[in-house]
Amino acid sequence: MLQRLSAHGLEVRYLGDEGAPSHAALVDAVRGAVALVCLLTDRIDSAVLDAGAPTLRVVANVAVGTDNIDLAAARRHQVVVTNTPGVLDAATADLAILLLLGVRRRLLEGVELLRRGQWRGFALDGTLGTDVEGSTLGLVGYGRIARKVAERARSFEMRVLHHARTPTIEPGYVADLDELLERADAVSLHVPLTPLTEGLLDARRIGLIGPAGVLINTARGAVVDEVALCDALEQGRLGGAGLDVFVGEPHVSQRLLACPNLLATPHVGSATAETRAAMAEVAVDSVLDVLDGRVPANVVAT
Ligand code: GLV
Repeated sequence: MLQRLSAHGLEVRYLGDEGAPSHAALVDAVRGAVALVCLLTDRIDSAVLDAGAPTLRVVANVAVGTDNIDLAAARRHQVVVTNTPGVLDAATADLAILLLLGVRRRLLEGVELLRRGQWRGFALDGTLGTDVEGSTLGLVGYGRIARKVAERARSFEMRVLHHARTPTIEPGYVADLDELLERADAVSLHVPLTPLTEGLLDARRIGLIGPAGVLINTARGAVVDEVALCDALEQGRLGGAGLDVFVGEPHVSQRLLACPNLLATPHVGSATAETRAAMAEVAVDSVLDVLDGRVPANVVAT
């Protein structure tokens, strides 16, 4: 990625050597820059965009979600914002299915039993999970990742329902979110984080999934009310949860991690070598498109 940018005659200031750069370091580095390639951990707010003016022309987020970027401020500064959809659909869908199967088959419990040396051998009723075949998966949001999850779920012979703000004419569309939550045995979230989706899965809605149901979140932590989720898991009002994303990452609530029937991964939905390389290429394409006067394929704000 860096070579392609340098080969284009750009001077590259790389801030990733010591992990995520501080906000102050970002503000500093963006002064006089024409392009900013950033991660979802970088908060690109009006302070960063003000510092980038008037030279900054493009912010290329190496992520599909852009909730870390103040899009209104970018529009004010006429900075093009791009993301990296498409190339991460399969990897993220795989992780959603992995979490679903892991929760249903009590993967973590089994691994811990072995690691602690507490396994007493095969038993007819040992660590019993629940079949996914014949069960119903409800998808909240029906973009590209959700569709990949649907394909995978159908191959496991699950019934798939979906709810989306923009109605679809596809089989399985459920107009009412509450109805989808009630009908599904497992619910997987695939909506971006916006003011409309923040806290979408609140205590009442989590309750609709029910004590036998499972909630999977590979979207953004804040789409779910984490305190309500902890309450529901602790009190057995939700059967289980598989989470790849959390409120306030990288800090994860210890209470949440201690919840029964919770399988958690550290925001690795798109974390395969192939996918991350493809995401970086898409981000570089976007930068070069804007700088060379072309319209990039993945414009989020302009
Ligand atoms: C990952 O969470 C992304 O938005 O790409």
